[in-house]
Order: sequence, then structure tokens, then C-alpha cells
Amino acid sequence: MRRIYLDHGATSFPKAPGVADAVASFLRNDAGNPGRGGHRLAVAASRAIEDARESVAELLGGHPERTLFGPGSTFWLNTLCAGLLGPGDTVVTSVLEHNSVMRPLRYLEAARGITIVTVRTANASGVPDPAEVRSVVSAARAKLVVMTHASNVTGAVFPIEDIADAVAPVPVAADGAQTAGSVPFDFASSGLAAYACSGHKGLLGPTGTGVLLLAPPLADELQPLVRGGTGSRSESEEMPVLLPDRLEAGTPNGAGIAGLGVAARWLLARGVSSIHQHESRLVAALAERLSSIPGAHVHGWDPGRPHTGILSFTVDGADTGELAAWLDRERGIMLRAGLHCAPAAHRWLGTFPSGTLRPGLSPFSTGADIEALAAAVEEFAARRRST
Ligand SMILES: Cc1ncc(COP(=O)(O)O)c(C=O)c1O
Repeated sequence: MRRIYLDHGATSFPKAPGVADAVASFLRNDAGNPGRGGHRLAVAASRAIEDARESVAELLGGHPERTLFGPGSTFWLNTLCAGLLGPGDTVVTSVLEHNSVMRPLRYLEAARGITIVTVRTANASGVPDPAEVRSVVSAARAKLVVMTHASNVTGAVFPIEDIADAVAPVPVAADGAQTAGSVPFDFASSGLAAYACSGHKGLLGPTGTGVLLLAPPLADELQPLVRGGTGSRSESEEMPVLLPDRLEAGTPNGAGIAGLGVAARWLLARGVSSIHQHESRLVAALAERLSSIPGAHVHGWDPGRPHTGILSFTVDGADTGELAAWLDRERGIMLRAGLHCAPAAHRWLGTFPSGTLRPGLSPFSTGADIEALAAAVEEFAARRRST
């Protein structure tokens, strides 16, 4: 049976060509501790990481010194929320957030008494208009906006640059987990104060990698979530002030970062715009095909809006987990079912608590992949109707 991986919203597979070799090569040849010693292996590890930093910064439009590496979006979103919000502060967010935004905010609500205001948009997709965000931000006198760049449930892309423009000078920190590498984006011209993303999803790098891009003045203000050794200023028991060291305590994931650097170079050569066009075309075809199946429903799909390669659907009378298990077992198709760590999004869409099935496409997905999924869903739905 042909195996069809359609869970790129969770993590991409396969990775970009050359990534696995770069990880192995780092571990075989360069695996010293970067910045911790002047010997050749420490220098080789530093060079691999700084090369990767240059490549990722170039791809996303970040300044290399303000392009930070960490274990994933979750880590950087926690850093942003905990580092910027204190007692009495108000933060504005959307109904489509992932728990890597909502859980740190709920924690800070209980621990520091921050106030969370959610934009309840007039838009059925859950994606707020910039003017709606502006009026909520000014009414709430918000200190910060933390918002996803694209929903990991519906795939809808937020007009995040226009939102940043509308609420300025209030800073906007974006969750780019679902857009980095798959939606054209330039941090330098985005107007965002911060952009956190995963290295292992659309960036096609190894798991356990993530990136934070910062713009001034937030870059000077943000305090680390974890403190420790950096290899620099070892005489001091305080964290160094300079970036990237201030926000990168502890031995980094050198092998993962080396792989991420190779993935970034591959994406630069392939072009994120062409990937976005490819995924948009396929996901629109999939939405149309699934919507034509009796009993199948695509949720939160708005053809007038830019989308990532993700969509969400359900089939009448079918448990989402049961259908996902059947697709894997009987048709070799791998995708995720349930709430996708975004319960509020499902409350908004009316799919809570059973959730949805979520196919996610990649640059390597094909028309044959989506047709195989649609044909399998059609067969399952027809059987369900006849029982
Ligand atoms: C929108 C969104 N934000 C954050 C995350 C967390 O990313 P990571 O697993 O890299 O920490 C995910 C992962 O599924 C996501 O989809």
C-alpha cells in the first residue's frame, strides 16, 4: 500500500533534501559545543550554527543578530508572553489560537493577573479585520497583541501585517508556526515586533528546532524564560545583554540547527511563493472535492482569503478518530483528527468537542495524494450512509 503523509501541519515529512545528511554530518564531524572553547570542534559547531542563522534570517527577513534559535514555537511564544506581560497588563488575541499561546496566557492570567481580551470578529472564519483589532486594542488599552499568522485548524491566513499597521505603536507578536516556509513573508517590512515559528513544519527542518525574530525596541526589552551558560561573559552571574546570547542559554541543538540551515537554503532556492501557489492550488481543489461529497463538510473555509495547505473537515455520523484510523490502516493515509490543540477554534467553528480531520499539504504533496484522500473519504461516507 502506498503511504501518503498528509500531517504536515503537525510536522513536515519528508524534510528538505540534504537535511538528514546535514544532521548526520554535524554529529559525525562538527559536534563540539559552540562558543564553549577555542578548539576546532567548538569552532566548527559555532560556524555551522552561524551559517544556519544567516540562511534562516535571509529566508524570513530577520536581522541575523535578532534571529534566535530554540526548541520550537511553543518555547518562543512562552518567552514572549512571560517576558512582556506583567500585573495589570492587557493582551489581545484571536479565537483561533493554538494552546501554545492560550496556555501561557491563561497561566499568566492566574499567576500575574493579566487580562486577556479576545477579538470576537464579525467574520465567520474567525479571522479578524485589522479595524476590528484596532478598536479592541484601543478600548482595552492593550499592551500587546499576540496572534496567529494562520490558523492551524482551518488554514486561514491572517492579514497580520495590516493588523500590525492598524494597532501601531502597540507591538504585535505573531505565531508563525503554520506560515514560516509556506506563506511568503518578510519580517523586516511586516511591522511586527516579534515572529515565532517552528523549524520542523513548513521550514522543513528537524523536530526540536524553532526560531524567534525580533525587531527593536522589543529586541532590547525581552527577558529570557531560561537563564544559564552562554559561553560568553562567563565572569558574570547575570545573563549577557547582547543578542543572541541573552535569549539562547544552554547548549543549542547544533545538529538540528545545522539541518534547519540546509532546509532554509533549499527553500530559498525553491521559493516560498512557488510553494504557496502549489499548496494553495491543491488545498482549494481538495476543499472543492470534499465539499461535493454527500455528508462531508469543510469547516471555516473561505475561498476569498489566502490559505495555507491545511483544511478541516468532518463526515456526518463518523467519529473523527475512527475515520483517521481507518484512513491510516486501510488506505495508508496519515492525517490528524481531534482538536489540534486549539479548543477555542473548534468552539468558534461549532466542532467542539469531537473536532475535525485535518489534512496538511507540503511542497512534495501531489494531486494524486489529495485525490486518494478524497476517494477514500467518499467511500467511507457512502458506507456510513448505507449503515
Ligand atoms: C499555530 C501553532 N502554534 C504553535 C505550535 C507549536 O509549535 P512547536 O511544536 O514547534 O512548539 C503549533 C504546532 O502544532 C501550531 O500549529
